[in-house]
Amino acid sequence: MPFLKARSIGKQFGAVTALAGVDVDIRRGEVLALLGDNGAGKSTFVKVLAGAHRPTSGTLEIEGAPVELASPQDAAAAGIATIYQELALSENLSVAENVYLGRESVRRILGVPILKRAEMRRRVDELLAELDAHIPDPDLPVGGLSGGQRQAVAICRALNLDARLVIMDEPTAALAVAETRKVLSLVRNLAGRGCAVVLVSHNIADVFEVANRMVVFRRGAKIAERRRDETTPEEIVAFITGAHPSLRSLEHLG
Ligand SMILES: Nc1ncnc2c1ncn2[C@@H]1O[C@H](COP(=O)(O)OP(=O)(O)O)[C@@H](O)[C@H]1O
Ligand SMILES: [Mg+2]
Repeated sequence: MPFLKARSIGKQFGAVTALAGVDVDIRRGEVLALLGDNGAGKSTFVKVLAGAHRPTSGTLEIEGAPVELASPQDAAAAGIATIYQELALSENLSVAENVYLGRESVRRILGVPILKRAEMRRRVDELLAELDAHIPDPDLPVGGLSGGQRQAVAICRALNLDARLVIMDEPTAALAVAETRKVLSLVRNLAGRGCAVVLVSHNIADVFEVANRMVVFRRGAKIAERRRDETTPEEIVAFITGAHPSLRSLEHLG
């Protein structure tokens, strides 16, 4: 059973059809890439999964049960974490504090809340090690970290919130080559831990490196779905640009 099943998802913004009839299955232990030209509907779909947009039509199921994700809190409670490009990290807080933001471990002594600092630090070290994240000192502020290290912190935070589906919107767009490599390996490690991962990316090389499956959106519709081992970068690019022969009849209806 897939972790999440989206069926016939549609989203209208007034007269604009951002999504129409989208069926997608998202599986544990798998990296699913979402591809498509600007305006294809990728971010809108991600926001539906993140509880940030209510779909106009269609249904979502998580582990076989129908769900309504009416808010980001609903999505978080369902185990869905979304890491947007502009990472919501606090620059002047430490790595460890950022990982625990919103989920501080508190113990009460005579009714007074005491942060379980040592326990939090242990857990952060564990998560960073599991992801092989290479952050030298988790007690230093996030402000001094590189883009790739910031992605690692955001991923650790998602895991610390028990995310079962992690969605990343263009995580490598602003990164240098070495950093991109590191983030892609974090993405693989996430799936290796059994997480479902959705990766939105414009970078075909990145996608072919980490994704098990690829879904292409065009003008709000899902026009192709391929396993990595049954397609090529050329075919995927042809779907994205609309040049793929199988799309000709569709384009006429356009
Ligand atoms: N909040 C919004 N209000 C109105 N139109 C929107 C909104 N968000 C997205 N759209 C429109 O929906 C379509 C899909 O956009 P989007 O999901 O951002 O595409 P992508 O992420 O693939 O570039 C576009 O035509 C876009 O202009
Ligand atoms: Mg987008």
